[in-house]
Amino acid sequence: MKTNMKGRHFVSMMDFTGEELETILETGFDFKRMLARGQRHEVLEGKSLGMLFTKPSTRTRISFETGMTQLGGHAQYYTEETTQIAHKETWEDTARIMSRYLDALMIRVYDLEKYGMARDIVATLAANATIPIINGLDDKEHPCQTMADLMTIIEKLGADWRRKKIVMSWAYAERVKSPGVAQSMLAAASLLGMDLTIAHPEGYELDEAYMSFARKAYKQSGGKLSVVKDIYKACNGADVIYAKSWGSLKMSKKDDNAYRAQFREDWRIKPKHFEIANKVANYMHPLPADRGQEVANEVIDGPMSVVYDQGENRLHAQKAVLALVMR
Ligand code: CP
Repeated sequence: MKTNMKGRHFVSMMDFTGEELETILETGFDFKRMLARGQRHEVLEGKSLGMLFTKPSTRTRISFETGMTQLGGHAQYYTEETTQIAHKETWEDTARIMSRYLDALMIRVYDLEKYGMARDIVATLAANATIPIINGLDDKEHPCQTMADLMTIIEKLGADWRRKKIVMSWAYAERVKSPGVAQSMLAAASLLGMDLTIAHPEGYELDEAYMSFARKAYKQSGGKLSVVKDIYKACNGADVIYAKSWGSLKMSKKDDNAYRAQFREDWRIKPKHFEIANKVANYMHPLPADRGQEVANEVIDGPMSVVYDQGENRLHAQKAVLALVMR
């Protein structure tokens, strides 16, 4: 089993094997247990993580910063406006100079003019940096979120988690968001051999590059992938209903906003969706949730909700990624 990830970029789930993802998960659980027992685990003593945010964040910023402190290192926060990127310093030069000071760089960038432009920036940083680049959400993926989500699924569903029905669904929201969470989950589920149902209305298909990667990976991993356009069919017998909004890759933002209004009622997760799911099914969302749009308060505040456990697991999963790539 290959466990050495020193120096690797953590940009796309598609760059990793199922065994490597399992190594990250096991390391995350190790750190979680050590923290609970009060055991020090300062494996990154003296190391520095840069965090470049072009978009707002609560969970990602705080969990990375706290994680670096717990690992014995330090995290630095910057935005485009507070760096020379504001004066058009190139991403190439930014990557090269930051590599002279830092031991790794995390970046959040999405919602640019066209789908894929943000990933191009992350890829440019990765190509020019001599330190690991970590994707803190771009327009294609949110791999750190998915590692935390997988930890949560394993904790909640137990040893047989690969055979449980996980629904990754589109949900209604006025705000058009990145499909990153769904695409990272699809790639990871295919590598780990999970039972995944992708649900979305017509027009919200995921990037074909992720679909074709997943179809191939599923042939190797032995899991099960379904794609449905009916939210009720998806929720029937589900063990997890993970529902969040994402933008259409086919429509302009303006057209998408007008088109999606028809899905407002059916694709807002309510107690009705859980009535047809398995009795102890869990509700998942990466947060922040658009309450009343993506989900009813009775669900996100109800006993089925595990959203704060997911949020906490960001800390443990990211510490695992940091420790493995920065050591
Ligand atoms: N889920 C997530 O990435 O949260 P933030 O946007 O608050 O970082």
